[in-house]
Amino acid sequence: MTDQSITSVSRESRAFKPSAEFKAQANLGSEATYKRLYAESVNSPEKFWSRQAKELLVWRKPFRSVVKWNAPHAEWFGGGMLNVAENCLDRHLGTARENKAALIFEGEPGDVRTITYKQLHFHVCRLAHVFENLNVGKGDRVAIYMPMVPEAVVAMLACARVGAIHTVVFGGFSSESLKDRINDCGAKLVITADGGWRRGKVVELKKTVDEALEHTPSVQTVLVLRRCKNEINMQEGRDIWWHEAWEGAPNHHKAKAFPSEHPLFILYTSGSTGKPKGVLHTSAGYLLGCKLSSQYVFDLKESDLYFCSADIGWITGHSYVVYGLLSNGATVFLYEGAPNEPGPDRFWRMIDRHGITIFYTAPTAIRAFMRWGDNYVLSHQLSSLRLLGSVGEPINPEAWMWYHRMIGKKRCPIVDTWWQTETGSIMITPLPGVTTCKPGSATRPFFGVVPKVVDEKGKEVPKGQGGKLVITKPWPSMLRTLWGDDRRYQQTYFSEYPGIYFTGDGARQDKDGYFWIVGRIDDVLNISGHRLGTAEVESALVAHPAVAEAAAVGRPDDLKGQSLVCFVTLKSGIEATEDLKQKLRAHVAKEIGALARPDSIRFAAALPKTRSGKIMRRILKEIAVGGEVKGDTTTLEDFTVVATLQAED
Ligand code: WT7
Repeated sequence: MTDQSITSVSRESRAFKPSAEFKAQANLGSEATYKRLYAESVNSPEKFWSRQAKELLVWRKPFRSVVKWNAPHAEWFGGGMLNVAENCLDRHLGTARENKAALIFEGEPGDVRTITYKQLHFHVCRLAHVFENLNVGKGDRVAIYMPMVPEAVVAMLACARVGAIHTVVFGGFSSESLKDRINDCGAKLVITADGGWRRGKVVELKKTVDEALEHTPSVQTVLVLRRCKNEINMQEGRDIWWHEAWEGAPNHHKAKAFPSEHPLFILYTSGSTGKPKGVLHTSAGYLLGCKLSSQYVFDLKESDLYFCSADIGWITGHSYVVYGLLSNGATVFLYEGAPNEPGPDRFWRMIDRHGITIFYTAPTAIRAFMRWGDNYVLSHQLSSLRLLGSVGEPINPEAWMWYHRMIGKKRCPIVDTWWQTETGSIMITPLPGVTTCKPGSATRPFFGVVPKVVDEKGKEVPKGQGGKLVITKPWPSMLRTLWGDDRRYQQTYFSEYPGIYFTGDGARQDKDGYFWIVGRIDDVLNISGHRLGTAEVESALVAHPAVAEAAAVGRPDDLKGQSLVCFVTLKSGIEATEDLKQKLRAHVAKEIGALARPDSIRFAAALPKTRSGKIMRRILKEIAVGGEVKGDTTTLEDFTVVATLQAED
């Protein structure tokens, strides 16, 4: 893609200052302090991060160095030893937080459970013993495929406690996707549940696990939580019930310390080519990034009840449901099910019922709420809310204004937080007591983050001009590599501009220095706030016996951000029928998961290609939106292909 195509059409000029009341109580309420701390964090990073790490984390052994950067490899807090679970739990015991709620859970059927820090500690300790009895420990991989229930958090923290590396797989992924992830990391243990509640129905997780495990030689044990009491198959010698396994396990567990750079988790995310990438995060730097940003971005107070609607299967759930919040001793609200079950006001009902104060969600959800209608919101008070957040994709100013007016009642600041699975924690964001917000802009960098908008050659572009977003300095919570594929790590993130992290996003900076993220510039789609590689969809399609070639592209969509349009050529002799279209849509959903189900399939006699045989997705994108093909077509091999595709529209 050329620079000219990264133009931002946004001409937003509204600005919203934090109110005097909010400012007065904020953890950070002065512009001068933000400027001073930010300057220190980027000019003297060692000093800044050393102080933060000492203040915020509990160390078993102090670190000797702050950062060693040998691009693209970073070592943070070398020589230090700590335990991440201890930092989230044990540190609060014996303090006023001991009997404070760590989790308030509401299941989709309406069941509510409150779990204090002391109780959560017990749960995690017991599960840690179970792991040790199963011989699961330091460096072993554990796949977690669970509903959004407290035990999912317990499972993650128990892994951290024994030094095992968790890989959480979102419960909406198919058995194929689960199998690939398990095999890629060689998981020894799988933790799942009989099922989870979603839209009044049971999602049969264990059944999907059984299918996946037909081809996963590394798995020795499956630990099964009883949640929905649906009938499942338990395989003798492999499957054990959670409640039976931890019967009699002690409530106390002496946690070992691990080095700062000990791997904490692998989280798979889509890339522009090939199979999903296993993003690896390590312990101390990751935890520090999450903890510090939670304090400042969410302005966390002891009395807050914090609700993030993301599933723990995504990075948002890792950083801003579990690690960033529990390390701060916050109370986290967990919800299991769909936002419109039993009705479209479920979230507003829960906010009032529990007194939720901070609400963090995605623009695609906000657009769904808008579409469902204001009446569902207006029948609730929402008076407990004091801060709102957005993440996952650029928020369109219209949705921002609705969120501000309808949910925040013009009283709550909105933090539009830009970050990625790879960055581990929030990178560009307003600070709610300081930053004047402009709807649609993620505004300014967080501490220690040095973003730049550059041209093809890596030269910073003038303010107002579009370009590629890069991060020029290492930061503590950055990914360390891709699991089992360090070459791909270097190529994906550090080869475009040697030694500099390339985000894959297009952006521009306005005259005030605010960042406006335009979206992905590689072949990655953003559908309902989730990343999906066009290559994954294409490879699922060509795996179908009827398909010869496929190209997947995104089309702007009012609700989902982007919708998925696939162009397919069929093998000779196969008839292009409506029925086949439906079959192919179902096939992709089965291969990857429902979130990848194509919105539209278009059969074509041929796909537009360059002379060297590369599919020209740019042209297909233009056709998908129903427009003319305007861009440069001089490299196109066969002009008639485009004419035919347009005629078929
Ligand atoms: C991509 C990362 C970070 C957790 C959720 C998604 C887009 C994310 C914003 C935002 C504009 C955003 C970017 C980014 N994105 N937040 N506030 N404004 N774009 O994590 O799946 O790793 O996706 O989501 O394109 O690169 P992810």
